[in-house]
Amino acid sequence: MRFDLISIFPDYFTPLTLSLMGKAEDAGLVTLAAHDLRQWATGKHRSVDDTPYGGGAGMVMRADVWARALDDALATPLACENAEAATASCRRVLAIPTPSGTPLTQPVVEDLARADQIIVACGRYEGIDARVAQHYRAAGVEVLEFSIGDYVLNGGEVAAMVLTEAVARLLDGFMGNPDSLVEESHSGAGLLEYPVFTKPREFRGLVIPDVLVGGNHAAIERWRRDLAIEKTAAVRPDLALELRAESLGREDRATLAACGVAYPREGSARPVSIRHGEPGDAAQLSALAARTFPEACPPELPRAAIDAFIAAELGPDMFEAMLADSTRHRILVAQIDAHLVGYTLTIVGQGAIPPELVCPGRVEADAAYLSKCYVDAPWRGSGIADVLVEAAARDAAEHGHASLVLGTNRANKKAQAFYKRHGFRRRSTRTFDVGGVLNHDVVMVRDLTRTGNPTLA
Ligand code: ADE
Repeated sequence: MRFDLISIFPDYFTPLTLSLMGKAEDAGLVTLAAHDLRQWATGKHRSVDDTPYGGGAGMVMRADVWARALDDALATPLACENAEAATASCRRVLAIPTPSGTPLTQPVVEDLARADQIIVACGRYEGIDARVAQHYRAAGVEVLEFSIGDYVLNGGEVAAMVLTEAVARLLDGFMGNPDSLVEESHSGAGLLEYPVFTKPREFRGLVIPDVLVGGNHAAIERWRRDLAIEKTAAVRPDLALELRAESLGREDRATLAACGVAYPREGSARPVSIRHGEPGDAAQLSALAARTFPEACPPELPRAAIDAFIAAELGPDMFEAMLADSTRHRILVAQIDAHLVGYTLTIVGQGAIPPELVCPGRVEADAAYLSKCYVDAPWRGSGIADVLVEAAARDAAEHGHASLVLGTNRANKKAQAFYKRHGFRRRSTRTFDVGGVLNHDVVMVRDLTRTGNPTLA
């Protein structure tokens, strides 16, 4: 790949002859040509700038001088033109650094790495006459006006070096170890990189995490991925909302949701908050319960029975009463924008477990009871249910319970697998009445005295 860097200060580019970049040039992988714009200036003073039309501060770089330089650069013969196929053509990009350009991101850089020649036109002063970009675009040249960040530099040279290094290091053969490119920030899913550590194992009282020396590669990979997600959500919430959804697995989504970012089955990610239910939530909770409860019922349950249960147990008045009594009923909600998209209801305190669940000697009579955990259909698989269950378990433990019990339909294997991932173990069965029809559940219990999130263990 050939880089033509044009500036009134070509010496700026000397550092590009050092390190890996210098080696790549020696190896013939890249050609770096720095040019002094004044070569193309005319007149006694070889002036490259003039006052702006319309007035204002500073000077503007002249289009005619730049055009002579760029015509020459664009006419440079390239190796790709000698390719065997008669139709082979070279991709030449005219890159113009400017704080008003499009952000130079990794995807942009990855695309530029497929070019044959990049000509960087480095402006100084107030910039280059706007007709330069206009003219070359109209002439069919690929023009990229780019910015390396929301701040203003004295000129485009530093930005040109940033682009050159970011592009060149992606070329085949540039990196000693191409694996280094795989997991770095902004690559792959679009996550920032996880923290890295080397010897000594202890440094000024800071010891590296045990998982990194345990030899369990799957656990190390999971740990790194979780930290990358947490870092991205904390430092760059904008990036956390723009990840490549197809690259996110179930555990990634759960970690993201725990960081307040929910990826739906379809559509864009949204910030999600998990909080305690408030009196004003009753109407929305009732509607959410009425939407989600039927989906959790076994197919043999008649609609009339389901409706009767909803009317008797899930009306706004029922939720109002429960929300008013937080010593007994603990409601946690997941909110996206102004909408409640999930909730858990846990009964705490003495005698929380419904009698049909208490199976002497098998289910702890002083357990808390996770009565409901529902998430709206579009948000299933987003990790919201994982966060809700973990929050409910923490809440029950804070209320002095040593275990959490639930019943879930025996045919619903997905729900059972979900609760198993969250540390629940099957203990017994129960039958209970939904609108006059008997329903068969498995009863699962989670020990709350063991700390940590079982999903991440
Ligand atoms: N020239 C001056 N500031 C710049 C920036 N932030 N990015 C690219 N070119 C520039």
